[in-house]
Amino acid sequence: MKLSVQLAPKNEKGLLLANPVMTASGTFGWGTEYEHLFDIQRLGAIVCKGTTLKPREGNLQPRLAETPCGVLNAIGLQNIGVEAVIRDKAPVWAGWRVPVIVNIVGETVEEYAELARKLDGVGGIGGIEVNIGCPNIKAGGAEFGAKPDSAAAVTAAVKKATTLPVTVKLTPNTGDIVGVAKAVAGAGADAISLINTPKGIVIDISKRRPLLGNVSGGLSGPAIKPIAVFMVYEVAGAVKVPVVGIGGIATAGDALEFIMAGASAVQVGTANFTNPKAPLEVLEGIEAFMAKEGVKDISELIGAARG
Ligand SMILES: Cc1cc2nc3c(=O)[nH]c(=O)nc-3n(C[C@H](O)[C@H](O)[C@H](O)COP(=O)(O)O)c2cc1C
Repeated sequence: MKLSVQLAPKNEKGLLLANPVMTASGTFGWGTEYEHLFDIQRLGAIVCKGTTLKPREGNLQPRLAETPCGVLNAIGLQNIGVEAVIRDKAPVWAGWRVPVIVNIVGETVEEYAELARKLDGVGGIGGIEVNIGCPNIKAGGAEFGAKPDSAAAVTAAVKKATTLPVTVKLTPNTGDIVGVAKAVAGAGADAISLINTPKGIVIDISKRRPLLGNVSGGLSGPAIKPIAVFMVYEVAGAVKVPVVGIGGIATAGDALEFIMAGASAVQVGTANFTNPKAPLEVLEGIEAFMAKEGVKDISELIGAARG
């Protein structure tokens, strides 16, 4: 049975995954935290925490709130910074079979480009995922990914700064997900991943205040899955680059929905917090489904629901 997928067919280096199951940024640490729980080398790829130029402390507590069928988070991009990633994490990843993709985030187009430049040529890094769900400081704080032109500007700058395969991760906080997807594909993205978290607020009625220190946060988990499948369906129908589906995936059935909607690969996020072996179970469930249905190549299932 063939499970491998190529996420960057046009890139010189390519981004070949042994199977379509990845982990989502911010929910699987550096990968090392999960090594003692299962053989993480079996995964298709690992995406690390959002990385900025300088280390960041993140937002005021509380940063997490449980919601019906989901979680609202406002971590505020707490991370060790790109220099520490290159110095301390990449050498470990260089010994792994599973490719590691570094998720990057900047406050200006130049910061994104600078991050991509620093990561270029570093051993142990298989690709870059660009989180464009961050406020554009120079443009009054709207998310880069809210509009096609700002999303394309970030993509073009990152592509120019690196030879690594580049996946652009879309935010659902836009009225024009297809327009943004077409713009980033046109600007050279090797692949598109979606969705990041839609915005939400939980109110603590005893305090008559928003519960999160940051007031609002991003919603994740099963609550967002149908929205994410819809957006993947729309985007996969509009672009030619591979699409990676994210949002509420906890089981193989969830992952197969995204694949049948048109995703070439999937990422498991919030499910890791309640079941750290979820990505492995998703992989084994996809294998079992393929065996049961007599599917020889995962490509037979990609977009199968599109008619
Ligand atoms: C605690 C937490 C931290 C996250 N941190 C990041 C991040 O640093 N960069 C990023 O692009 N997405 C981040 N995400 C979003 C996830 O990668 C994913 O897109 C989203 O949670 C939807 O998938 P899920 O429902 O499977 O969690 C984070 C999500 C959570 C819950």
